[in-house]
Amino acid sequence: MRVVPLLVVVTLAACAPGADGAGHGGTSSSSGAATGSSSSSSSSSSGSAVAPPQLPALLHTTVAQDVNPDPQVVEVDLVASVVEHAFADGRLTQAYAYNGLIPGPTLQLQRGQRLLVHFTNQLPEPTTIHWHGLRIPDTMDGTPMTQTPVPPGGSFTYDFTPPDAGNFWYHPHYNTPQQMERGLMGAVVVHEDPAVAFDAERIIFTDDVRLEADGSLAPFQQSGMDVMHGRGGNVLLLNGAEAPRAPVTVTRGTQERWRVFNGANARTMSLSVAGATFAVFGTDGGPLPRPRVRARLSVAAGERYDVLVYFDGAPGSTAALLSHVLVLDGNGNVVEEERVLQEFQVATAPDAPLRDIVLPSSAEVTLPPEGPPDRTLVISGYNDGTVHFTINGRSFPDEEAWETTQGTTAQVRIDNQLGMEHPFHFHGQFFRVLAPAARVRSDPGVKDTVLVAGGETVTVLVDFSNPGHWMYHCHILEHAEAGMGAHVTVHPDGSGHAPGTGH
Ligand code: C2O
Ligand code: CU
Ligand code: CU
Repeated sequence: MRVVPLLVVVTLAACAPGADGAGHGGTSSSSGAATGSSSSSSSSSSGSAVAPPQLPALLHTTVAQDVNPDPQVVEVDLVASVVEHAFADGRLTQAYAYNGLIPGPTLQLQRGQRLLVHFTNQLPEPTTIHWHGLRIPDTMDGTPMTQTPVPPGGSFTYDFTPPDAGNFWYHPHYNTPQQMERGLMGAVVVHEDPAVAFDAERIIFTDDVRLEADGSLAPFQQSGMDVMHGRGGNVLLLNGAEAPRAPVTVTRGTQERWRVFNGANARTMSLSVAGATFAVFGTDGGPLPRPRVRARLSVAAGERYDVLVYFDGAPGSTAALLSHVLVLDGNGNVVEEERVLQEFQVATAPDAPLRDIVLPSSAEVTLPPEGPPDRTLVISGYNDGTVHFTINGRSFPDEEAWETTQGTTAQVRIDNQLGMEHPFHFHGQFFRVLAPAARVRSDPGVKDTVLVAGGETVTVLVDFSNPGHWMYHCHILEHAEAGMGAHVTVHPDGSGHAPGTGH
């Protein structure tokens, strides 16, 4: 398989005002391997009114090649197959990959462009592709509820036009705990129009994987702790490889956009950046009204964040992306430990002024007061020798009916009666956290996945803008597999307005 460098060395100087993303074509790889951001490496075309949109270079993942010359269409081939992959140095794992890559190629497009994905399944089992967070027609949503799984050797063309700019991702929705643990996931980046020019953009795909000493994946368990808490890995990954890798050199004063994903089966990532300033400016469904400087960023399975990282450390200093993990100490107590995901060496800046970057932003919204819930989802479970998770007493596919109408909003109260946390996800729709107030402050913005802590009750205001049959479930994949999921039918309101127009 192809080796993808984890991070490339950034050799750019601070861009002059007005420079566009093509100015970052000077990035070079520390290992000398091609970085393959094929669709973004053409030369600058600023000044021409008819030029196709210039997409920013995305560092350190491979961008899928757009084979369609039509500027309105991005057309890519995606093949899922069995590969030998080096999750950890010196060990090869029999894994699953899209186009031989883990994570799969980043699909990037401009808002308004149509995406055509010709998918071929070369796995020994059926699969589907789900487009997490994209408010597209349910026939393209890739759950076995709306699509016959693609058999081994089969193919399917996904065809849709994403209505929202932001960070989305794709992954299977069939035998999901195993297929995702084996490596099937990738980013979908829908750029704002016009694209905002940062000094660099990086895909930060966090994950973990559980490996045996010989590099093989630990056996999948259908019971016990793995179902209770989800499968936790023993190797922390950044963009498909064990962290940390070789340090990256960045120029002092560089302002980068990090698009942060969590593709783990279960683990909530607790991240921080030491030696640099970072601010969150976007969540699952797009930008916040204002950026928020954070000390820690918790990214639950399924969530995404847009982060501005400003390398303001002294020349010669080191900055690092850290993951804070819980481990058992020698006395059997749970303690927090700090792991380096990636180090950055801050180099002297050439004499260039700090650029003013106008971050993407959204209008302030006033949330309605919390009222009696339109729907309550009580999360519980039981163990009859097998662990079952329930929503309102029932386990998927024995689910409770829920029907609503496009264009309505609903206050949905998620009442977690269990001791463990659940990153709760709605397909095809966005929501905002409405209560409790502390969660509104810590989790602002438009979301499709929200972490509900053990024993916590979180109320979300769901905007049912997208008609169809939509799953909602816990994104701890083992919980969903053990019944913590259901679906809602959103009837068209007849107005025919497209999703996304309500924002
Ligand atoms: Cu990432 Cu059913 O979702
Ligand atoms: Cu989803
Ligand atoms: Cu859960």
